[in-house]
Amino acid sequence: MRIYQPTILLFTAVVILLYISPVTTATYSGSRQLLYVRDDPITIPPYLIFENVRLERAYVALQAWKRNMISDPWNLTLNWFGPRVCDYNGVVCSEALDDPSINKTVSGVDLNHGDIAGHLPEELGLLTDIALFHVNSNRFCGTLPLGFSQLSLLFELDLSNNRFAGKFPEVVIGLPKLKYLDLRYNEFEGGLPDSLFEKDLDALFLNSNRFTSKIPVNMGNSPVSVLVLASNRFDGCIPTSFSKMAKTLNEIILMDNGLQSCLPNDMGLLKNVTVLDISYNSLVGELPESMGQMESLEVLNVERNMFSGVIPEELCLLKNLREFRYGSNYFTGEPPTCRYLETFNNTMNCLKDVKQQRSNMECKVFLSKPVDCDSYKCSPVASTCLCPAPGSTPPPRISPFSPPSAPSLPPAPQSSPSA
Ligand SMILES: *[C@@H]1O[C@H](CO)[C@@H](O)[C@H](O)[C@H]1NC(C)=O
Ligand SMILES: *[C@@H]1O[C@H](CO)[C@@H](O)[C@H](O)[C@H]1NC(C)=O
Ligand SMILES: *[C@@H]1O[C@H](CO)[C@@H](O)[C@H](O)[C@H]1NC(C)=O
Ligand SMILES: *[C@@H]1O[C@H](CO)[C@@H](O)[C@H](O)[C@H]1NC(C)=O
Repeated sequence: MRIYQPTILLFTAVVILLYISPVTTATYSGSRQLLYVRDDPITIPPYLIFENVRLERAYVALQAWKRNMISDPWNLTLNWFGPRVCDYNGVVCSEALDDPSINKTVSGVDLNHGDIAGHLPEELGLLTDIALFHVNSNRFCGTLPLGFSQLSLLFELDLSNNRFAGKFPEVVIGLPKLKYLDLRYNEFEGGLPDSLFEKDLDALFLNSNRFTSKIPVNMGNSPVSVLVLASNRFDGCIPTSFSKMAKTLNEIILMDNGLQSCLPNDMGLLKNVTVLDISYNSLVGELPESMGQMESLEVLNVERNMFSGVIPEELCLLKNLREFRYGSNYFTGEPPTCRYLETFNNTMNCLKDVKQQRSNMECKVFLSKPVDCDSYKCSPVASTCLCPAPGSTPPPRISPFSPPSAPSLPPAPQSSPSA
């Protein structure tokens, strides 16, 4: 017998249970019910022999999933039948992390670029050994089933470029091992939970969805190295907690939203940031002088905002900076060093003796109204951080939430400094 002896009785019992399940389902509650689609359970034919119980549970999950696919143009799941689930296309197996005696479990699923249409069933929660779940570039719709809360080893979750919709899938917040969360290019909507930024993630991609409302004020509590919130409909402030990300943050892309505020003055603390893109928003005020201390900065894009004032000289002297786009703002002064950068764009500003600038009239009108950064009422971070950095003092408790109404001021421009 080629079966794994110690579990033979157990798995036989499970097979029997599953097999007679239509009769007994009603008497089982909780997790056991996860094994079934409510009125149409996946049954395991008694002649299928599995190497271990975990592979058998994976079989149930994958069969339920296959049944929830309505189009598989590349026939990726054509071989998804029978007990050898590790041979299924897109299924990755390895030793169980928690039990070395189990030498084969489904540890990952990778159906990237499958163009498969369908949705994700609750039974995927039976894949309790998976660390990777990659389904980017398919046509899955609906939302993330609550069954995902069972995936306590899940490390990378990539749902990008699908048709998922609805509110932010909060089930991911409870996944203890999750480090990489990629939801970009879907149709998720609404706000983000504060708890997302208290989570120990390494990379968070939420771009090109339909998220709205403010970026939670505790953004700065996030230990991510990469944060991409671009091309949504976030409005309100760039959280003042931003600079708290100094220890870990490497790249941040907030472009193409509706952000309206000044930049926090202590941006210069972000010494490990290499890429900062806040273009295509409605940000105002001057670029803080301290940005000249962002010594790792390589790419900076602030174009298409309503920034004004003089660009700090130290910024363009940063030795790693090779690309700086600041076109389509209301800058009145530009240190000559900025033009020595490998790539720069200064068009459509209020710069004297520079080609392709805004009209005098446009500049005069805009710059006649001073910017009052305080009027944007950007709240300090809430002191509800679940996991304060060791040795850090908690921020002052003022108001845990942003004020209910965003200042609907027209962007308050600034009087012209000497240009
Ligand atoms: C895995 O375990 C099975 C059953 O105990 C055994 O037959 C098989 O040889 C093992 N495979 C490896 C690669 O250790
Ligand atoms: C998928 O399988 C169907 C039926 O077996 C076949 O007609 C079709 O050509 C296959 N498609 C591809 C892309 O291999
Ligand atoms: C952060 O930046 C400093 C100075 O640029 C560098 O020495 C350090 O290695 C960087 N740390 C990380 C984690 O990138
Ligand atoms: C400069 O940026 C503006 C947008 O701000 C864009 O329209 C223009 O094409 C850019 N010019 C160059 C030379 O890249």
